[in-house]
Amino acid sequence: MKKVFDVIIIGTGISGLSNAIYLKEMGMDTLVITKNDEISESNTYYAQGGIIAKKEDDTASSLSKDILNAGCYYNNLSAVKHFSETGPGLVFDFLIDKIGVNFSKDENNKIDYTEEAAHSNRRIVHYEDHTGDKIIEDLIAYAKKIGVSILNSHTAIDLITNNHHSKDCQELYKKREVMGVYVLNNLESTVDTILANYVIIASGGAGNLYQHTTNPASATGDGVSMAYRAGADIINSEFIQFHPTSLFHRDIKRFLISESLRGEGAKLINHKGEEFMQNYSHLKELAPRDVVARAMYEEMSKSGEEYMFLDISHNYKGKVPVEERFSHIFRTCQKGGIDIRTEPIPVVPAAHYFCGGIKVDLNGRTSLKNLYAIGEVSCTGLHGANRLASTSLLEGLVWARNAAEHIKGNFQQMKVSRLNNIPDWDSPEFREEFDPLLIKQDFQAIKLTMWNYAGIIRTKKGLDRAKSDLNYYSHRIMKFYREAKLNKSIIELRNAIITASIIVDSAMHNSKSLGCHFVK
Ligand code: SIN
Repeated sequence: MKKVFDVIIIGTGISGLSNAIYLKEMGMDTLVITKNDEISESNTYYAQGGIIAKKEDDTASSLSKDILNAGCYYNNLSAVKHFSETGPGLVFDFLIDKIGVNFSKDENNKIDYTEEAAHSNRRIVHYEDHTGDKIIEDLIAYAKKIGVSILNSHTAIDLITNNHHSKDCQELYKKREVMGVYVLNNLESTVDTILANYVIIASGGAGNLYQHTTNPASATGDGVSMAYRAGADIINSEFIQFHPTSLFHRDIKRFLISESLRGEGAKLINHKGEEFMQNYSHLKELAPRDVVARAMYEEMSKSGEEYMFLDISHNYKGKVPVEERFSHIFRTCQKGGIDIRTEPIPVVPAAHYFCGGIKVDLNGRTSLKNLYAIGEVSCTGLHGANRLASTSLLEGLVWARNAAEHIKGNFQQMKVSRLNNIPDWDSPEFREEFDPLLIKQDFQAIKLTMWNYAGIIRTKKGLDRAKSDLNYYSHRIMKFYREAKLNKSIIELRNAIITASIIVDSAMHNSKSLGCHFVK
């Protein structure tokens, strides 16, 4: 009999690691896997701005109002209420008091709160301008200290379900249940059958399906694709959030220029040095992200320029020097020959956050028994049609806690006889080794298609075109997947084409422009 874990968690961002910590401290036998070689590699690691936290002069109702305004009132009201009431305090209880994250302090040695677009209060705590890596490093250190088991370089291939995989045909007639995951050991090229009573998908977003993105290369829509294949409900997939400002530079790619620069006074300007946000919103640079991203797109289309500028050199409101407050951005731009203290930063919009995902309830439960999803891969409905800045890390944390508590409170051991009917992965003796260039080429094709036809501004014709191009690639990629020797890149490519198709289908089915889904 194979080992059966209480819980297997896929992903090591803030949601996966926090969930593992909660579960471990509840006495659960938990395994965390990540496809990446570095445990820290995740969307969370690259988060710059910060995380909403409790503040004396703030209220749950004012936070809710800001979330609903940004989300165009398309949000799940119970998720917004729950998040606003229970989330901000968790930053203190869990991240600061338990994990020991030492957020930036102001000149009086008090936690420094910063501002971002569409917030009515300065309620965001941060660590300089690289909050994500600080949180992740501290979470990893804590998880290791309490003995959480983490396997790196292990890529989830498929969820195991009774209906799909059991050798007992009677399982076909039962309600679908998730029973574990088939996992590729990237280094040994073997496939493990990992059985578990509960599976939690915390695998992050899908920004890397787009030509320009702030996300790491690993954000390939794996969790959505895997859950979709297993039959879970996926919702709101047309709502891809584009961040208005990523660095435009020949040599430095995927680099975010945090919204907190605009929170601290930075202005968007065109190539003539003119401000333009007043033409798009009375909130100017602090309008919700979808509005600013479209304004950037319009200005670039009108002028024919490939980028605009963000200037913090003239209007900085902060108390600590710019190079300290925005140390990471300062150093990265400096490497690229730009001094943010004295000159504007060339910026373009880029795919940033997947507001849709695997449909879950307040406990992170999906539509499939024993399957939970938390963090960016899930859709709690909190963000509605457009996410308010700095809500995502906290959403990951809140649902990590909720899912852990729900599993603990309702734990049921699966019958060993049922688990014994799950076969090992069937690996044919001979499979072809494909040239990595072929995979790269197919990936590039998906990214360009998504950027051009399912990007910031969509048209019916463009989406039709995307659909037929993706169908064509899909046929080729699935054939390729069946014939190739499995590796991480092929698994990611299969996930990418499926998630891209889900996004395009959702966009085609929603002809109404709302939030970050804009159809012309
Ligand atoms: C940023 O720093 O601009 C990103 C914050 C977020 O996406 O919530």
